[in-house]
This record gives sequence, structure tokens and C-alpha cells, in this order.
Amino acid sequence: MKNFAGSWEPENDRKYRDEKLKNVILIGFMGSGKSSVGYRLSYALKRSLCDTDSLIERREGRKISKIFEEEGEQYFRDLETATLKRMLEKKEYKRCILSLGGGTPLREENRKLLKQLGTVFYLRVTPEMVWERLKGDTTRPLLQTEDPRRTIRELLEKRDPIYMDAADIVVDCSGKEQDEIVEFIRKKTVEK
Ligand code: S3P
Repeated sequence: MKNFAGSWEPENDRKYRDEKLKNVILIGFMGSGKSSVGYRLSYALKRSLCDTDSLIERREGRKISKIFEEEGEQYFRDLETATLKRMLEKKEYKRCILSLGGGTPLREENRKLLKQLGTVFYLRVTPEMVWERLKGDTTRPLLQTEDPRRTIRELLEKRDPIYMDAADIVVDCSGKEQDEIVEFIRKKTVEK
């Protein structure tokens, strides 16, 4: 088991179960940096970047906030599951960087799909980091509450064990520059 300051791999080391698909999958709370880390990783590893939220928006022809507003959260969650299933079926989702919406790992079915799709990296952040990054954000329907700071704290507390369960590798992002995070994931991916 390799170690990196603040990072670890769960005991039931699933590290390289993804020999076939070899996608690098980024999970984590809203504002954890999945999109920007994913973007930089796609350059560093010369792999395509696929963002499930963007795939859903493109397919639906409307923004996530509109989907939530017009159809409700469950409908959106079904779209997330359908997206993962499609990714497993299609050959083009091989050796990609997959950046997932923050709620995607919540369904057990989705966590099983993720294990088949590749190596799951959990970008672990604190509620304070999320608040600093997302205060004033209007694009996340789940954070449009009276007290978004509190919502972040409560949601993250509930979700953290689920993200931990879904992860092959946990990347503790506190106090780390994005360069460091990208380099850590790049190394883990090429050092197989
Ligand atoms: C959600 C996260 C969002 C988006 C939707 C729901 C969540 O994606 O999928 O608003 O439940 O955490 P980001 O994590 O990219 O913000």
C-alpha cells in the first residue's frame, strides 16, 4: 500500500480491478474540484475528459437546475444511473477521465457500476473549503437553501462515509495545491 500525506487506500484494496477499462474516476462533494482537477489531468495523462453533468445537460437540452426544477431530483438521479450504464456499454469510455456529479455515488447501484468503470479517486474536502468556493453559487439546486453553509455541512457529513465506501483511493485535498493533487493522481495512474 502506497502512502501520500493524508491519503490512503481502503483495506479491501480494489486498486487495479479496472484492468479492462482503466478510466480514472473523480468523485467528491460539490466544489471539491472534480472538474478543474479532471481538466488538468486530461492534459497530464493525454486522455479525454467526460463530465457526467455535461453529458446529461447535452442529452436533455437543459441545465441541471432546470431538470431539478421541472422534473425533480429522482428524475435527475435516474439520468445519472443511465449515464453510467451507457458509459459501460460504449467503447469510447475507456482510459478516460470521468468527472462525476457530487451525488452520483449515493446510489448503491451506481457504486457498483463505478467499480466496473475504473479506479475511483475521492477528492475529500472540508465544509469550509466548499463554502469558500461555492458561496453565492446559484447553479447547484441542492444548495439554494436559507442557510447554504449549514446545508453543506450536513450533506457532507452524511455523504462522506458513502464517498469513502465508493473510493479506491482517497485524496485528502485540505491544504494542498491543485498541482499536487493532479500530480498525485497522475502518478497513481501511470505507476501500475
Ligand atoms: C449534485 C452535484 C452537482 C450536480 C447536481 C447535484 C449533488 O454536480 O450533479 O447539482 O447532489 O451533489 P457537481 O458536484 O459537479 O457540483
